[in-house]
Amino acid sequence: MSRRIFILGAGGFGRELFAWLYESTSCRPDDHVAGFLDSNPDALGHRSDYGRIVGAPEDFRPAPEDYLVCAIGSPEAKLRLCRELQRKGAKFLSLIHRTAFVGASSRLGDGVVLCQGAVVTSNVALGSFVTLNVHASVGHDAIVGDGCTLSAHCDVTGRASLKEGVFLGSHATVLPGVRVGEYAVVGAASAAFRTVKPRTTVVGVPARVISERAANQSQK
Ligand SMILES: CC(C)(COP(=O)(O)OP(=O)(O)OC[C@H]1O[C@@H](n2cnc3c(N)ncnc32)[C@H](O)[C@@H]1OP(=O)(O)O)[C@@H](O)C(=O)NCCC(=O)NCCS
Repeated sequence: MSRRIFILGAGGFGRELFAWLYESTSCRPDDHVAGFLDSNPDALGHRSDYGRIVGAPEDFRPAPEDYLVCAIGSPEAKLRLCRELQRKGAKFLSLIHRTAFVGASSRLGDGVVLCQGAVVTSNVALGSFVTLNVHASVGHDAIVGDGCTLSAHCDVTGRASLKEGVFLGSHATVLPGVRVGEYAVVGAASAAFRTVKPRTTVVGVPARVISERAANQSQK
């Protein structure tokens, strides 16, 4: 049976994934991209080259041949939607570009996305719905919790630990053994030298706290 693939999220990242989906090691030649799921029916604008938005994620009812790939950058939105869809029986493909590298004894959760040049070295644990954008890397023995998003060129070094829902901006670095708490944000080009508390945003080199959020306030 050929598979129907739906891209969850028709924003910029969804369009990037659409461009290279068939270059991933997990896609088969007879897979068929059925379209995007997005609650904004105009999210693609006039870009008809990308196919179409077939419906909203909340209305999606998966058939046996249906698979989703997750193209949402915001960890909070990503985890909320993906978990809800999984509860409805949706299956997620992990999308691993053929130029990405996954080293020995590393473990990947469901629905991860590893873009061009992403590197997961030795004995790394990536949770479900983790996204590594282009050239992001995760060093030996590091742990990356469910839903984390590592933007392009991020460097999570050896033994670092990211809890659920962490967002790292482009070129962010987490130093060896440093812990980053749930739903924290490390800004673009910033470097976390020491523990980052949950729901805190840090920026700069070395990173300093610029804001803290309550549990009911959303992440940027
Ligand atoms: C960290 C971040 C989320 C903060 O956003 P914010 O809460 O709106 O913060 P503001 O823009 O109000 O900035 C607050 C202060 O932090 C500074 N700041 C913000 N981001 C910074 C960064 N990455 N590095 C250094 N300083 C930064 C601002 O200059 C400002 O300083 P000031 O108070 O002295 O003027 C955002 O700046 C960022 O880096 N986002 C990552 C974007 C990215 O890489 N996305 C991936 C591609 S989609």
